[in-house]
This record gives sequence, C-alpha cells and structure tokens, in this order.
Amino acid sequence: MRLFDTHCHLDDEQFDSDRQAVLSRAADAGVETILAVGTTVGSSVQSVGLAAQYKSVFAAVGIQPNYCGEAAPQDWDQIVELSGAPKVVALGETGLDRYWDHTPFDVQEDYFDRHIRLSQTRDLPFIVHLRDCEADILRMLREARARGPLQGVMHSYTGSAAGAFECIELGLYISFAGMVTYKKSDELREVAKVIPDDRILIETDSPYLSPHPKRGQRPNEPALVIHTAGCLAETRGTSLESFAELTTRNASRLFKLRR
Ligand code: NI
Repeated sequence: MRLFDTHCHLDDEQFDSDRQAVLSRAADAGVETILAVGTTVGSSVQSVGLAAQYKSVFAAVGIQPNYCGEAAPQDWDQIVELSGAPKVVALGETGLDRYWDHTPFDVQEDYFDRHIRLSQTRDLPFIVHLRDCEADILRMLREARARGPLQGVMHSYTGSAAGAFECIELGLYISFAGMVTYKKSDELREVAKVIPDDRILIETDSPYLSPHPKRGQRPNEPALVIHTAGCLAETRGTSLESFAELTTRNASRLFKLRR
C-alpha cells in the first residue's frame, strides 16, 4: 500500500527533535510521499531544504493568508524565485481567512491573486486554505478561471458539497484531513462520499488535529494519514488499499510526479 500526505507542515518546530523518526514512522505506515507546505518565506525555504534532504518529501512554497500582513515586499520576490527550485511542486498555502484577523482582507486577496497568477504562468498547482469565506474564494476562483485554466487543491476541506462541486468544476481537487474522521463530522463525511474518484485527496495538515482514533496525539504526523484514508474508504464503500492507491495516483497527477 502506498499513501500520499498532500499537506504537512514538516518544517514546524514541533518536529525539530525527532523529524527523522517521524519520517521513518511514515515510511513504515506506507506513506510514500509527503508534501511539505510553506506558510511564510522562512518556512518555504525550510520546506525546500527538507525536500532536498529527504527523498520522500516534496515542497510547496507560499505565504499563508494569516501571515501576509507581516510579509515584507521582497518576500514575494523570494517566493517567485523559490517556485523554480528543485522538488517544488506547488504554490501555497494561499487562500483567504475571515476567522482570524491577522491580515487585512484586501491584503489576503492581493496575495491569493498573486499565487493564482504565478500558478497560471509557472504551470504549478496552488493549495487553498479556506476559513469562513467560501463565497469570496469562489468569486476569486471564477475570476481567475476566466483568465485561463486552474490547477490546485482545496486543502483540509470542511465546506458544503455544492461548494466542492463548484471548485471541481473550476479544475480543483478536494482534500480531506483528520477532521473528517471525528464522530460529529457526519455531514462532512456525506460530502466526502460524493466527491468524484478522480478528484479526492488526503492529508494530515500535521502537526495540527490528529485523526480519530489518535485524536489526542500531539503533534499529528504523516504516518497518521492512514486513519483518514481508512475512514474515507469505509465511507465510500471501498477498501483501504484501493483508496490509498486512488488518492496517491490523484496526488501524483496533480503535482506532476513521475511514477
Ligand atoms: Ni496548512
């Protein structure tokens, strides 16, 4: 069995003391590939470094919406430059967030727009963080789609089925994290059930929110993506092995990894 954790903050300091062990446990659990996702210039540089260091790790570079407010003007130039580095297979995470108030919303929109435009010129998929602003995200995605094709993923998706289908229509994939495994997440599992086979992905979003039955484990880590895979396989009436294979193939296609 081979699994692909499409969203991990592997540079997080919570992994500093035992990153090698975290990667070994992931390999033992069948996690063949991990996408290390940046949130700032610093974390993007670190993610690129981890990808250079470890065979199973690839990198995404970008500035997460909650950090755009503190980004210096030259930070974006550095993201553009990093996007051409070896093993960088995506841009992000980007997106919009109305829950936290760390970055003025118009600044978030400006950075989301920059990531999408860079995606369109560099032929790299983008990773979307969405919190409490589905309508704003869809509006910006529609505007961008009018300029050209989109490639990307709605990460740690917790929205509606209608929203997911509109994103799919616009060219995106839908990725589920540990939250979908929680007892009270019946509604989200109903959404996960109807995502087309060729557009569904899995992730840990580690070190955050471990999946059931490891919910109390801190930090979350890539090896635990198997629990999210198992829950979704059961929800969708398929085997863990074939769901693992399906989502790994989907991720490899989106991030253009040779297999
Ligand atoms: Ni994230």
